[in-house]
Amino acid sequence: MANEAQKEYWNGEVGARWAERDDFMTRLLEPAAFALLEKISPESGIDAIDIGCGGGSQTITLAEKIGVGGSVLGVDISAPLLDCARERLIRQGLVRANVEFLKADASTHGFVAESADLLFSRFGVMFFDDPFAAFANLRQALRPNGNLGFCCWREKSENDWINLPYQAIRPCLPEQPEEDPFAPGPFAFARHEYVFEILGKAGFSGIQIIPCDVSLSFGPSKDIQAAVKELTLTGPLAKLMADLSDDVRAMAFDSVVTALEPHYQDGTVTLSGALWLVMAKN
Ligand SMILES: C[S@@+](CC[C@H](N)C(=O)[O-])C[C@H]1O[C@@H](n2cnc3c(N)ncnc32)[C@H](O)[C@@H]1O
Repeated sequence: MANEAQKEYWNGEVGARWAERDDFMTRLLEPAAFALLEKISPESGIDAIDIGCGGGSQTITLAEKIGVGGSVLGVDISAPLLDCARERLIRQGLVRANVEFLKADASTHGFVAESADLLFSRFGVMFFDDPFAAFANLRQALRPNGNLGFCCWREKSENDWINLPYQAIRPCLPEQPEEDPFAPGPFAFARHEYVFEILGKAGFSGIQIIPCDVSLSFGPSKDIQAAVKELTLTGPLAKLMADLSDDVRAMAFDSVVTALEPHYQDGTVTLSGALWLVMAKN
């Protein structure tokens, strides 16, 4: 079955930990949602699908922008994150557009054909085993002239939030296997030529891929150790740290603290995030 490894990953410890820390993740990733929404500027009253909606904060922000008469369907494979999204929706109270959440694999789900005006995603589309088939499937859900708008990470080396701590812990890590740059994961779409190819082959037109830089704030925290703790629980760093023995992990942690001291101010470590904003038309 497609995407088995990702289903296990997002329904296991990683999904549960993200759900527990979703308020933190919401604050952390808000600048990316704002940059994407400003660029695509969704029209009011439209029907949208949020792919890989996770804890749903950006689904609700999108729904507020779309407003009365519109709808957003948030789709995700992760049960803990969908629970979190549904709770967030109840907590939020009245949302101006209709919002629903669905547990489904967006790459293969049989969406109602031509039912959406916008396919949207904040960091939710880089995890498909077969991105070519996935985007062809997703395009079927778009109405003629409908829009696609998502953001994804550029290369790790351009993203201080992962690169600086990674370089700091590197001497503590066992030899790392060579990475397949296109393997499903947060950096699978770092090469924009690959994204052009996927969307072009899936039948999208008017593809635009624009670099965008945001500031990511790890905090507010009582001290730098607490801010670095949040950082090392986020994304691929969490797994690298978890795989270390206790004493090596403590050494790695101290190295990250030292490396990030220049970026710590007023309870927050602030690091750059390098994104692609990707837009296309059906
Ligand atoms: C990095 S998280 C982003 C979550 C959310 N969009 C946000 O910005 O907070 C990636 C999300 O994509 C979801 N995902 C991965 N593969 C998926 C698939 N095939 N279908 C639907 N969701 C998927 C994961 O479960 C996870 O919630």
